[in-house]
Amino acid sequence: MSLASPAKLSSMLWVALLLGCLVMGSSKAGNFNQEVEVTWGHDRAKIFNGGQLLTLSLDKYSGAGFQSKNEYLFGRIDMQIKLVAGNSAGTVTTFYLSSQGPTHDEIDFEFLGNVTGEPYTLHTNVFSQGKGNREQQFHLWFDPTKAFHTYSIVWNTQRIIFLVDNIPIRVFNNLESIGIPFPKNQPMRVYSSLWNADDWATQGGRVKTDWTQAPFVASYRNFNANACVRTPSSQACTSSTSTGTSLQDSAWQVQALDAAGRNRLRWVQRKYMIYNYCTDLQRFSQGLPPECKRSRF
Ligand SMILES: *[C@@H]1O[C@H](CO)[C@@H](O)[C@H](O)[C@H]1NC(C)=O
Repeated sequence: MSLASPAKLSSMLWVALLLGCLVMGSSKAGNFNQEVEVTWGHDRAKIFNGGQLLTLSLDKYSGAGFQSKNEYLFGRIDMQIKLVAGNSAGTVTTFYLSSQGPTHDEIDFEFLGNVTGEPYTLHTNVFSQGKGNREQQFHLWFDPTKAFHTYSIVWNTQRIIFLVDNIPIRVFNNLESIGIPFPKNQPMRVYSSLWNADDWATQGGRVKTDWTQAPFVASYRNFNANACVRTPSSQACTSSTSTGTSLQDSAWQVQALDAAGRNRLRWVQRKYMIYNYCTDLQRFSQGLPPECKRSRF
């Protein structure tokens, strides 16, 4: 019996390695068992299908939440969410990035429920070095309870882009040049939660949670962090759904809006934006925040 030649052995080794990477890549894709930990609510957070689906539920006694195991410094984070259906008034479902501490950075998606037939409000905010007060709110152009939709945060050194089904709804630019702090030094985790906020969430707090409808359930799938994972000693930029080598994987690092993106953003802001801190002269009677004077894109 003859042994395989060294050249043949090494090419077999490469095939084995490649297969290993592909298998690892796909089994890692959005696996909640590997990527997140449940932080509160005990069995109100449940993971199904070998890590492919996660549900949060809310009852009279508690909501629930989870966070990513990793901390990220810049990246593109995608999550597919199906929101609480029916009468979701008083409930808030969240998906956000946040660092820790009193001068924390935070990038928020919060979904404020409503009575049956009335639209959810998508509430967004950006905190840098502990300062927020940058709310923009939207209605959606679809019913977010009927199917999963993709909510994404692109966070690079130049800007933060909020996307819904890949349509940009908001951009927060890096305007450090005019003295506005930009999140860039504090690694953030991904957080999600479902909780009761009927003191303020729905129609200004006038509509309360109808506990006869409990438990309320929101579902999450296809979490993908195409991002730079930060540990105390290292930083590595990878994707949780691929081997991290294709061009597509690093597009977020320089992502900006092109003409089509600007058009879509204008369309969303014109037709679906219901609150913009940048136009709230009553609230900022001493003068609008300086970033509001710059172009929104
Ligand atoms: C609920 O519906 C009302 C009426 O359509 C709307 O004004 C409001 O923005 C909706 N969202 C919330 C969270 O109240």
